[in-house]
Amino acid sequence: MNTKEAYNNWAETYDSVENPTRSLDEKVVRTELIDITGKDIVEAGCGTGKNSVYFAKYAKSLQAFDLSENMLAEARKKVNSPNADFFIHDITKTWSIEGESCDLVSINLILEHIENINFVLQQAFRILRKKGRLFICELHPSKQEKGSVARFTDDKSNKEIKLVSFFHSKKDFENACKSAGFINIIMKDWFDETNEDIPRLLSILAVK
Ligand SMILES: C[S@@+](CC[C@H](N)C(=O)[O-])C[C@H]1O[C@@H](n2cnc3c(N)ncnc32)[C@H](O)[C@@H]1O
Repeated sequence: MNTKEAYNNWAETYDSVENPTRSLDEKVVRTELIDITGKDIVEAGCGTGKNSVYFAKYAKSLQAFDLSENMLAEARKKVNSPNADFFIHDITKTWSIEGESCDLVSINLILEHIENINFVLQQAFRILRKKGRLFICELHPSKQEKGSVARFTDDKSNKEIKLVSFFHSKKDFENACKSAGFINIIMKDWFDETNEDIPRLLSILAVK
């Protein structure tokens, strides 16, 4: 099953089934991105919109896109705001967003499905205004090394589906940020409250 089909099937239950990765990312965004009032924000791979709700509440504008129409449909149900625009787009294709037109690009829990992260970060750099910020939060490489991968139980077949995933080390993320042109790259490890051995998420904040 390819990534688009998988998320189209997962969309209906994505929000309701317990998912510590999703829940921690929700907290991280609201902890790390507090100064978003009045900003123009682009959210790549917005999924069912758990972070879109937060961005749309404070931003001047939110442009949010995703590959899966079913995930996007859930996001549209959550956010009914005139400043928010949701559209289908593949992050691996040139983003249909004007250059130097936004203040923040947020990419959450999607890059594990993307082989070439350099292209993605180049696109983020292109659309950001000078001093604009890139925020990334992903399943931690140490967690991936222990075998963690996005997975869900498909309702139709009742089988567990593991999604297509690629490994990116901290160094890979840093190099991709630098070669796109980003500076002031800050990485943070985020842990579950109950397990402090291996971080669950890695966040990256960088400036154009
Ligand atoms: C784990 S979900 C995360 C959704 C949301 N960012 C969040 O934090 O809840 C990953 C999302 O990435 C989207 N995605 C995967 N590959 C993509 C691609 N090539 N282009 C755009 N979106 C993609 C999926 O459809 C899915 O909605």
